Amino acid sequence: MNNGIKIHVVNLSKSFGENQVLRGVDLEVRQGESMVVIGGSGSGKTVLIKCIIGLIKPDEGKIYVDELEITTLEEKGMNEVRKKFGMLFQWGALFDSMTVWENVGFGLRRHLRLKEEEIRRIACEKLELVGLKNIEELMPSELSGGMKKRVSLARALAMEPEILLYDEPTTGIDPIMADAINDLIIQMKEKLDVTSITITHDMKSAYKIGDRIAMLFQGKIIEVGSPEEIKNCSNPIVQQFIQGKSEGPIKIVDPSLLTLPSQRQRGGKYWMWREYFPGGDRE
Ligand SMILES: Nc1ncnc2c1ncn2[C@@H]1O[C@H](COP(=O)(O)OP(=O)(O)OP(=O)(O)O)[C@@H](O)[C@H]1O
Ligand SMILES: [Mg+2]
Repeated sequence: MNNGIKIHVVNLSKSFGENQVLRGVDLEVRQGESMVVIGGSGSGKTVLIKCIIGLIKPDEGKIYVDELEITTLEEKGMNEVRKKFGMLFQWGALFDSMTVWENVGFGLRRHLRLKEEEIRRIACEKLELVGLKNIEELMPSELSGGMKKRVSLARALAMEPEILLYDEPTTGIDPIMADAINDLIIQMKEKLDVTSITITHDMKSAYKIGDRIAMLFQGKIIEVGSPEEIKNCSNPIVQQFIQGKSEGPIKIVDPSLLTLPSQRQRGGKYWMWREYFPGGDRE
């Protein structure tokens, strides 16, 4: 019973001191839908999904999960809602003191009464799904960055949640494995009717896995549409982002900062060098 809407974010705002990150985000994710959120570095994508899973409390606005408003829930109520979610954290966020399989089985041990062998069996099964075999006894410190990410993905999948939040699932992973992860995200949706939100900068992945793509810019969702609609969108901000151009309405840095003092005025290259790299001695 959710009118076909699994997650509904309404007018969500969040600031950290002076830094107004979210300024009225509205987003609807339908049951079984794969929603992709794109947006520049630091635009608030991670903050948005951390609000959805209750790790960050928004200043204003509401979030409905299956029509239940969650921003006002106490910790106990929120813990119940969290059982519906699996989350792949951007940097893996593994527990350093636990082995790989203990990390993957963490939620199973916490929420379900299963025997240790059963937890280990499920953990190994999920690890295999993400292309990792025979590493279950290793510690996180023994893994590469991409492996940590995949272990974190296996952990997110372990509880077979209704909703999956993937924060940059393919970043830092080789292209073949990244595509296998895209396929896995699609399978989760098709076989298990999982609703998901994926944050990514990887437009190839966004077009492949997204039923719809939403762009976050200056604290708001400025466009939402199917991959085709986003590709053909006339909004210059979206076009600049999806084409990865440094020139356009999105300003990377204040261009005046890039203007070096004229060499003529300063008496040549030597002076320019000395001015910018004090102590530097070249030429
Ligand atoms: N716990 C926090 N305390 C203070 N500021 C924070 C906190 N979390 C995030 N921010 C700030 O919020 C802004 C958005 O951060 P966020 O991590 O959501 O960006 P992002 O869109 O996920 O970027 P990236 O693509 O680089 O991961 C940044 O300016 C960041 O410094
Ligand atoms: Mg982020």
